Amino acid sequence: MAQIFLCAGVILLASLMTCHAAISVTLDLEPADHGQLFNLENEDGSVILSGHIGRNLETPDNLKATQNGSCINFSSIGTELNEVLEDCIDFGDAHWYGGPEQSRQYWPLDNVTFSEYSYVTKSQDNQGIAERYWLSSAGVYIYVEPDVPLFIDLNNHVNKSICFIAKSSAPYLSTEVPQLKYKVCASENAKEAHKNAVLDVLGKPEGYPDERMITHPIWSTWARYKRDINDSVIVNFANEILSNGFNNSQLEIDDQWEICYGAMTFNKNKFPDPKNLTDTLKSMGFRVTLWVHPFINILCDPWLTEATDNAYLVYNNTGNTTLTTWWNGIGSAIDFTNPEAAEWHVTRLKNLQEEAGIDSFKFDAGEMSWLPQPPRLDSSSYPYPDVYTHSYVNAMSSFGSMIEVRVAERSQNLPIFVRMLDKDSNWDWNNGLKTLVTTLLQMNMVGYPFVLPDMIGGNGYEGAPSKELFIRWLQANVFMPSLQYSYVPWDYDDETVQICKVYTDLHAQYADVIINLAAKAVQDGSPINPPIWWIDPSDETAQTISSEYLLGENILVAPILDEGAESRDIYLPQGQWHDELRNEQISGPTWLRNYSVSLSELAYFTRVTTVNVK
Ligand SMILES: *[C@@H]1O[C@H](CO)[C@@H](O)[C@H](O)[C@H]1NC(C)=O
Ligand SMILES: *[C@@H]1O[C@H](CO)[C@@H](O)[C@H](O)[C@H]1NC(C)=O
Ligand SMILES: *[C@@H]1O[C@H](CO)[C@@H](O)[C@H](O)[C@H]1NC(C)=O
Ligand SMILES: *[C@@H]1O[C@H](CO)[C@@H](O)[C@H](O)[C@H]1NC(C)=O
Ligand SMILES: *[C@@H]1O[C@H](CO)[C@@H](O)[C@H](O)[C@H]1NC(C)=O
Ligand SMILES: *[C@@H]1O[C@H](CO)[C@@H](O)[C@H](O)[C@H]1NC(C)=O
Ligand SMILES: *[C@@H]1O[C@H](CO)[C@@H](O)[C@H](O)[C@H]1NC(C)=O
Ligand SMILES: *[C@@H]1O[C@H](CO)[C@@H](O)[C@H](O)[C@H]1NC(C)=O
Ligand SMILES: *[C@@H]1O[C@H](CO)[C@@H](O)[C@H](O)[C@H]1NC(C)=O
Ligand SMILES: *[C@@H]1O[C@H](CO)[C@@H](O)[C@H](O)[C@H]1NC(C)=O
Repeated sequence: MAQIFLCAGVILLASLMTCHAAISVTLDLEPADHGQLFNLENEDGSVILSGHIGRNLETPDNLKATQNGSCINFSSIGTELNEVLEDCIDFGDAHWYGGPEQSRQYWPLDNVTFSEYSYVTKSQDNQGIAERYWLSSAGVYIYVEPDVPLFIDLNNHVNKSICFIAKSSAPYLSTEVPQLKYKVCASENAKEAHKNAVLDVLGKPEGYPDERMITHPIWSTWARYKRDINDSVIVNFANEILSNGFNNSQLEIDDQWEICYGAMTFNKNKFPDPKNLTDTLKSMGFRVTLWVHPFINILCDPWLTEATDNAYLVYNNTGNTTLTTWWNGIGSAIDFTNPEAAEWHVTRLKNLQEEAGIDSFKFDAGEMSWLPQPPRLDSSSYPYPDVYTHSYVNAMSSFGSMIEVRVAERSQNLPIFVRMLDKDSNWDWNNGLKTLVTTLLQMNMVGYPFVLPDMIGGNGYEGAPSKELFIRWLQANVFMPSLQYSYVPWDYDDETVQICKVYTDLHAQYADVIINLAAKAVQDGSPINPPIWWIDPSDETAQTISSEYLLGENILVAPILDEGAESRDIYLPQGQWHDELRNEQISGPTWLRNYSVSLSELAYFTRVTTVNVK
């Protein structure tokens, strides 16, 4: 039995009490069939976490378990190319959070399953963010290193567990011996664990996004018009927004304005004079942003030829092709891991921006799955293919704090909005309204506080949202960092316009609060919209609530997320709460059962006294 004793050294010297943020843990390893079992134990011998390592210390596998502060760092390197390294960590009685963005975004992960699921950014399941980070209500976080060719198994075994599998096969390069390296860190509770993770592995933002994007709605052409846009459609859209009395942060011209994808040149049939259009929109009080993407489609010349001749494109692994299929056809992707290619792309965008009077951009795509598979990238840090996503987002961030991206990969430092992947216009867990709240929580808790919720009412890929869904969607969105309209209130009726004005104004009234929280995120990496357990990590009821969220630590939002519902159960954690709808004081922790909320109402609560939580 090997024992490793851990505690933050300075606190250990100071007293024999348990450490505060970081706690003292012992690692117990015990040989077992096919490897060894391990327990992470508290000072009093209680087990914090158990797991199974698929190898033995004595085998040729280069396994190391080293202590560093209150963390244990597991590091194994395989001995041959086709070796599969697998370690499992039991969920135990704890609830787990974190993991990837998903179209079915459940919260917590208790009942989620994955089977040898590749852990890269990919269009499958809307996995735009795949940070290798998990957090448990028992106060433990796990971080897997970026260069591990990682697959995960979740809840696929007798015990509920998460298994990390390192295997050198697609979508990873198959010529490197796999390695499995991760870190398990214990703290007093999940909040402390997450704060330590921000300092140690996730990082925090260096600035925050544009304040007008936080305050007033973005208006996008996408959901309402799809690709059927031209000069007059856009001017009419702008006129409608103003004549209905709504404010804006900007108007976003989405797909399809180019002569061919990657031309970065307006189609003159649809947009005879782009500069005139943007001047017109600006004279109406709009800023103008433009949808762009990282592809150049086949036959889109001379641009594709120029990029090919200069080796700016991503090839497949054997170097035979750059062609790949994306949702707008067949094309090639710029290799942003090649600095010259990134600069060429940025320069073209800057020229377009200047010529056409574009204020900023909506950067679409960026998942590694859009590349030829497996991709051969310029970067020396290969076999880590998500470096493509990382490099894309980094290069685009040079356009400043008014941009949006929809992917992220170790991008927590950037002062930009990360959009939720396209939501569908339904009430369900299948990428509908319920997942608006859980995706918000998931993104915040893997280190992305500047969440740009997707369009109010969803994208309408299977028809426009109903009036009820549209209104409930807006209400759920009010205390999130930004509002984005595409479907418009005046396409429903006057009541919808009136209700939407109220909530659009309510959001603007709270913009200062959101901006202050954004500044706090810059200081210490705090989430802007944490789950409700954030104010009492020991509250076992709060740990499983997926239909409420916080703005900071003093505003709790409980939107209606079910079709036809005019009431819901609401859980308030400890503290004195002011019910903003009923104008009453309520002491938490408590359940408000069957709390009625008509279509024009939103239940939210402000904390009047804060109770010290341990
Ligand atoms: C997981 O499933 C069990 C059994 O169906 C259910 O009781 C529990 O509430 C679920 N947990 C979550 C977090 O969804
Ligand atoms: C399941 O968990 C229990 C309790 O932690 C442990 O004793 C047992 O060995 C685990 N079973 C498997 C198959 O890992
Ligand atoms: C774990 O240890 C390895 C080898 O010492 C080191 O390279 C790696 O950065 C450590 N990982 C973490 C997450 O601390
Ligand atoms: C130990 O952890 C600290 C803080 O996370 C880190 O800076 C350092 O590189 C780690 N050392 C090793 C050997 O992993
Ligand atoms: C712009 O698009 C609209 C809607 O498809 C169409 O009715 C109109 O004729 C178009 N205008 C021009 C100038 O093409
Ligand atoms: C629009 O926003 C500006 C700046 O915040 C404000 O002065 C103005 O009153 C707002 N107008 C409407 C119609 O909300
Ligand atoms: C745009 O073009 C129209 C029609 O040619 C013209 O009337 C208008 O003055 C122009 N607007 C601007 C801002 O240049
Ligand atoms: C690369 O692309 C070529 C042409 O499409 C294909 O034949 C080849 O199998 C691909 N290489 C790999 C490693 O998939
Ligand atoms: C792909 O490229 C490799 C190396 O250049 C070459 O040997 C192979 O024949 C090519 N395969 C195809 C399908 O073009
Ligand atoms: C919830 O309240 C509504 C009225 O607000 C009432 O019609 C309904 O019966 C109540 N449901 C339950 C389960 O108490």
